[in-house]
Amino acid sequence: MALEGFLQPKCIKWRLCCGLRWQVLIFLLYFSHIVSGQIRYSIPEEMKKGSLIGKVAQDLGLDLKRLRAGRARIVTGESIQYTELKTDKGILVVSERIDREQLCGDVTPCSFNFEMILENPMELHRVTVEVLDVNDHAPYFPIQDIQFEISESANVGARFLLESAVDPDVGLNGLQNYILTPNYNFILKQHANPDGSKYAEMVLQKSLDREEHPRLSVKLLAVDGGTPQRSGTVNIEITVLDVNDNAPVFNQSLYRATVLEDAPKGTYITTVNASDADSGSNGQISYYLSKLKGNTVDIFNIDMATGTISVSGQIDYEKDNKYEIRVEAKDQGGLTDSSKVVIEVLDVNDNAPVINVMSFSSLVSEDAPPGTTIAIINVKDADSERNGQMTCSINTNLPFKIQSSLSSYYNLISDIALDRETTPEYNITITATDSGSPPLSSTRTLHLRISDVNDNAPLFHQGSYSTYVTENNSPGMSIFTVSARDSDWNQNARISYLLEDTQISGTPVSTYISINSETGVLHAVRSFDYEQIKQLTVVVKAQDGGSPPLSSNVTVKIMIQDQNDNSPQVLYPVQTSSSLVAEMVPRSADVGYLVTKVVAVDVDSGQNAWLSYKLQKATDRALFEVGLQNGEIRTVRQVTDKDVVKQRLTVVVEDNGQPSRSATVNVNVAVADSFPEVLSEFTDFTHDKDYNDNLTFYLVLALAVVSFLFITCLVVIISVKIYRWRQSRVLYHSNLPVIPYYPPRYADTLGTGTLQHVYNYEVCRTTDSRKSDCKFVRPCSQNVLIMDPSSTGTMRRMQSENNILDETDSPIEVT
Ligand SMILES: *[C@@H]1O[C@H](CO)[C@@H](O)[C@H](O)[C@H]1NC(C)=O
Ligand SMILES: *[C@@H]1O[C@H](CO)[C@@H](O)[C@H](O)[C@H]1NC(C)=O
Repeated sequence: MALEGFLQPKCIKWRLCCGLRWQVLIFLLYFSHIVSGQIRYSIPEEMKKGSLIGKVAQDLGLDLKRLRAGRARIVTGESIQYTELKTDKGILVVSERIDREQLCGDVTPCSFNFEMILENPMELHRVTVEVLDVNDHAPYFPIQDIQFEISESANVGARFLLESAVDPDVGLNGLQNYILTPNYNFILKQHANPDGSKYAEMVLQKSLDREEHPRLSVKLLAVDGGTPQRSGTVNIEITVLDVNDNAPVFNQSLYRATVLEDAPKGTYITTVNASDADSGSNGQISYYLSKLKGNTVDIFNIDMATGTISVSGQIDYEKDNKYEIRVEAKDQGGLTDSSKVVIEVLDVNDNAPVINVMSFSSLVSEDAPPGTTIAIINVKDADSERNGQMTCSINTNLPFKIQSSLSSYYNLISDIALDRETTPEYNITITATDSGSPPLSSTRTLHLRISDVNDNAPLFHQGSYSTYVTENNSPGMSIFTVSARDSDWNQNARISYLLEDTQISGTPVSTYISINSETGVLHAVRSFDYEQIKQLTVVVKAQDGGSPPLSSNVTVKIMIQDQNDNSPQVLYPVQTSSSLVAEMVPRSADVGYLVTKVVAVDVDSGQNAWLSYKLQKATDRALFEVGLQNGEIRTVRQVTDKDVVKQRLTVVVEDNGQPSRSATVNVNVAVADSFPEVLSEFTDFTHDKDYNDNLTFYLVLALAVVSFLFITCLVVIISVKIYRWRQSRVLYHSNLPVIPYYPPRYADTLGTGTLQHVYNYEVCRTTDSRKSDCKFVRPCSQNVLIMDPSSTGTMRRMQSENNILDETDSPIEVT
């Protein structure tokens, strides 16, 4: 029974330690009758091998012999033999390192048991060895480090449970205390579990600021109570989690930038920059342009990520020379900041000046005084400063100048007096140039016409004219053409010709001469008689159609040329119907006796009045002669008694005109010494009538004969002509080769087919216009017919030096 009571605890122990329970039971049953004792030792753990545990032999009262004889040995159910029995010394020593913590863990007190068996007799001694704890373990943390992620917004007082440390030692050698390395933010609070183990909490006593200390590192120290004290540490790594507690901040409150107005899209302007102390998405900033002005957004663009502002639209200095944009920086958490960007637009000379004609009179009278305003011009340039400063000019060599009246207003005024007759129109080109670099300019051309003023009187081509007209002209004949020119325009240059109202020998000039007011052709109103009037002087006035009209006059001298239109008139001897008047010649008259003198006159002048006398018929031709020049009838020989008393002479008086005109005069001469002799003779003179009648008869007969002969001849000639013509037609149809005949002048036509020599006609005027004008042909090498296009319809004949018409001293104008 005692054994059972003994076995009971052992069984409990084994149950705890290993699975060999049933073997020990068998063994114990086998030795159930043996003697036993109990012994207890207490040793610290971790003793060296061979260290003495206890003098077991001594303590059990056994001697060494007994030990040896009894083959004392240690029996233990364990696999590890911690102890060894030294039988020779009777002591128990450590044979294996004894680790209390390994052996018992947390169980205290810690002991192990074994039996010492002796044989002969069988003895069984129970030995209990209590292992005392030694502070051989430092507290340690089972993890490498403690990681915390704590938001910076964590409230003060927030608690964070810390990992507990482990110390296998027990009692005082076990974990006693936690210590946190000093820091600003946390303090340590320790608590005890119901089982007495301790744990610690970290309490936030000051708010975290990630921006200041994004990471904190503190050490937690676990200390035990052993001697020497041991400790273990663990790092507590605290990552402060960001809270979007910082708004972005621009690094400048105002950004200034400039940009050229012609900057193309994408041109860099400036970069704004904001910083956000927060991290991660809370610090990620996006940039925006505030929509201050509606169009600014279209013009500028900001890169959301980089804050680079660039041009995205059309900048026009003339619309906006300065832009003020608000930029906004926003983090992901929605916090914002804003700043201002002032962008000054720099002017570029991109606008040419614009010329506006405010008023312009395109028609200016030529009598406008110098300084007359012709146009008012407004010049604008949308650019500014130098790019908008303009100069205005006109093309040179014009009688105009440009004056600035107000700023950007210019007056175009005439500089000198204008004259339509010299320049009827002007193209005035106005050029406006700005001062930019390069300068831009624009032009505008004004077309100015000068209106006419009647400031020019008609002008005759010559100071005076003289012309000749032959008398006996047909009434209405054109005599001469005057022409004047007026350099004015249209109505002011429309010339009408008038005759000045003068008197010619008491009668108005209009009864002699008329003038075509349009053409200036002078016409004879009547037939002129040289014998009545030898010269006409008319004054022709040319008057233009202006208002008031201007005029000038010219004197036209018309010389009337004589024609042989008057036959000589015999003044003496007076012709009477009866021929009873006779000149007496005494029979004693000597040779050269002046019988009488025929006196004749011719009212014509010059050659036409130059008379010559000839004896045409005489009773006795040998007796008388007539002085050719003076008309004196003289005796040629001595008068004899045989000469008849009654002598009749017919004297022809002829003038020298072309053709000449003549008159005949009969002179009766009585050759007698006494008057009665004469009387008796002269009664016969009445028979002269028969003589005259006979003469008339003979004349008529002769005329008839001549006429007959003439007609006969004409008939013969025509017959011959017709016969020849027929002959030539037969020849032509017979295809016989015909050699064409070219007159020598026409031989030159080969090749060109046109006449190279121009034939023209020339009028030879004789002094007697009643006689048909003779015409003849002269080659053009001597006379040239010139067509002068300037004087329309007028052919002016240029006469060569050897012109036969030397008496016609003025050129003949043919209209
Ligand atoms: C002015 O210009 C017009 C049209 O360009 C042209 O017909 C005319 O001949 C010019 N006049 C002068 C005087 O240059
Ligand atoms: C002709 O004109 C001149 C001036 O040109 C003037 O003196 C003269 O009186 C005028 N003669 C006639 C007849 O009108």
